[in-house]
Amino acid sequence: MIQVDPGYNFADWRESARGLLEADLSPDQVLWEKAGQGSLFAEAAPLPAPKSAITFQVPPAFVDLARAAICHADLQRWALLYRILWRLVKCSEKHLLEIVSDPDVVRARTMAKNVRREIHKMHAFVRFRKIGEAETGRERYVAWFEPEHEVIAGAAPFFRDRFANMDWSIFSPKGCVHWIGGEMRFTPGVAKNPCDSPDELEEIWRTYYRNIFNPTRLKEKMMKLEMPRRYWKNLPEATLIPELIQASRTRTQDMLEEPGRDLRPVPNNRYLRGLQEMSVPYGDGIAPVEKTPLAELTRMVDACRACPLWERATCAVFGKGPENARLMIVGEQPGDREDLLGQPFVGPAGQLLDRALAEAGVDRSTAYVTNAVKHFKWEARGKLRLHKNPDRIEVEACKPWLLAELNSIAPAVLILLGGTAAASLLGPKVKVTRDRGLIDAPHLAAKVIVTVHPSFLLRIPDEERKREEYLRFVNDLRLALG
Ligand code: URA
Repeated sequence: MIQVDPGYNFADWRESARGLLEADLSPDQVLWEKAGQGSLFAEAAPLPAPKSAITFQVPPAFVDLARAAICHADLQRWALLYRILWRLVKCSEKHLLEIVSDPDVVRARTMAKNVRREIHKMHAFVRFRKIGEAETGRERYVAWFEPEHEVIAGAAPFFRDRFANMDWSIFSPKGCVHWIGGEMRFTPGVAKNPCDSPDELEEIWRTYYRNIFNPTRLKEKMMKLEMPRRYWKNLPEATLIPELIQASRTRTQDMLEEPGRDLRPVPNNRYLRGLQEMSVPYGDGIAPVEKTPLAELTRMVDACRACPLWERATCAVFGKGPENARLMIVGEQPGDREDLLGQPFVGPAGQLLDRALAEAGVDRSTAYVTNAVKHFKWEARGKLRLHKNPDRIEVEACKPWLLAELNSIAPAVLILLGGTAAASLLGPKVKVTRDRGLIDAPHLAAKVIVTVHPSFLLRIPDEERKREEYLRFVNDLRLALG
C-alpha cells in the first residue's frame, strides 16, 4: 500500500490522483493521509512521477462534485473521490454519476451538499467588526467564523466582491483569509478568536516589533514610510516607540548605577562592528524589554507577514527544545520535511546533525534548535520543492524572532550553522570558512561557535573530502562541551 498526502486543496489532490492513475494504482492500494499522520499500515513511498502528459477524460460534473466534496471534514473524502475517479476512468463506468443510488455517489453528493450549504451559511452569518484604518487609509475589518468543513477558500470570493474597498480578515480554526490592499491571502487556521480580545491582533505585531529593540531605527523606518503622522496611531509598532526609548534609557541608567560595573567601551573587534552596522543592540544600552514565553512566540510567529515567505510555506517552523537549554543551535531555514512536520532539523540535514552531535558527545535533546529564517523558501522542480537561499531582507525580517528566542533561552553556548545563521547574528562580514570555531561575541552567549551547515557536508561529492569535512564539523561541535 502506498501512502499519499492529499495536499491542501482540489488542485493538489487532482495532481496526486493523476499520478496514481498513470501508475495504475487501484484505490485499495492507496492510503490517503496527510503528512505527519504516520500510519502503522502504509509504506511511506514516493508518489510515482507522472510519465507524460496523459490526460484522463472525466465528466465536468465530477470536477464540480470533487471540488466541493474535497472541502468536507470527513477524512475519507480523498479516498472516496479517488474511488469514483478510478471507476469513471479505469472501469469504464462513464455514467456512474447518473446512478443516484450508488453508495459512493450518494456519499460524495452528500458531502458536496454539506459543503455548499456551509458556504452559504458563511456568506450569510459572517459579521465584520471595524478595527481601525489601515495605513493606506482603507478601513480595516475582522471577523471570526467556526465552520465544520474547510470552506474558507470557497467562500472567500463572495466577500472579496462584496467588500472590495475595505481591508478585512476572516479568522477561523480551518484557515484564515485576508483581503488587504486589493490582494487575497490565505493563512493557516487559528485556534482562538483573536477578534474577541481587541488587543490580541495588535499584540501579535507588537511582539514582533518589540523584539526589534532599536527605537531609533524604528523611528527612522516610520519616517521613511513617509506616512502622515495621523496614520501612525494605526501601526502597532509606532505605539512602541516611547516604550522602547524609555526601556533603552532605563537600561543605560541601570548599567551606570550597577556597583563595580566595568564601563570600558565596547571591545572594538570586527564582529561587534558588524553588529553595530546591523543595528543589533550592543553597546548602545538597548536591551529586550521583556521575555515573551516561547509557547506564545511559537503561536505568534505563524502570523508573521514581515516578508513574503509565509505565502508558500506550510507553516512557520519555530525552535524546539528545553526553555532552560544551555546550548542553542541555529541553522538557516526549514527544509521540505521540516516545513511539512513543523519542526526544525528533522530531514536529511537534521539526521546528519544528530549523528555529528552524538559523535561529539552532545545530547541534542538538551539543546534548543532553531533557524535564522522560520519559513521554508523553495522553488518547484516538477513535484519537488527545492530549497532556495533566503535573501538578506528575509533574514532581517525574521531576526526579531530569532532574537526573541535568544532572549528567552539565554544560552551559555550558541552554535551558528552556516553563513545565514552567522550573518543574521554576527553581521555580513563573518565568513564561515575563514572564521569558523570560537568567536568572541559575549552579548550573544558566553561561548559562540561558528561552523559549517550540515547541508554543506551532504553536498560534497567526493567521499574522502566529505569524511574529512565531517570530522572537522564534529570537532567544531565538541567546542560546545565543558
Ligand atoms: N536546514 C536548516 O538550516 N534548518 C532545518 O531545520 C533543516 C535544514
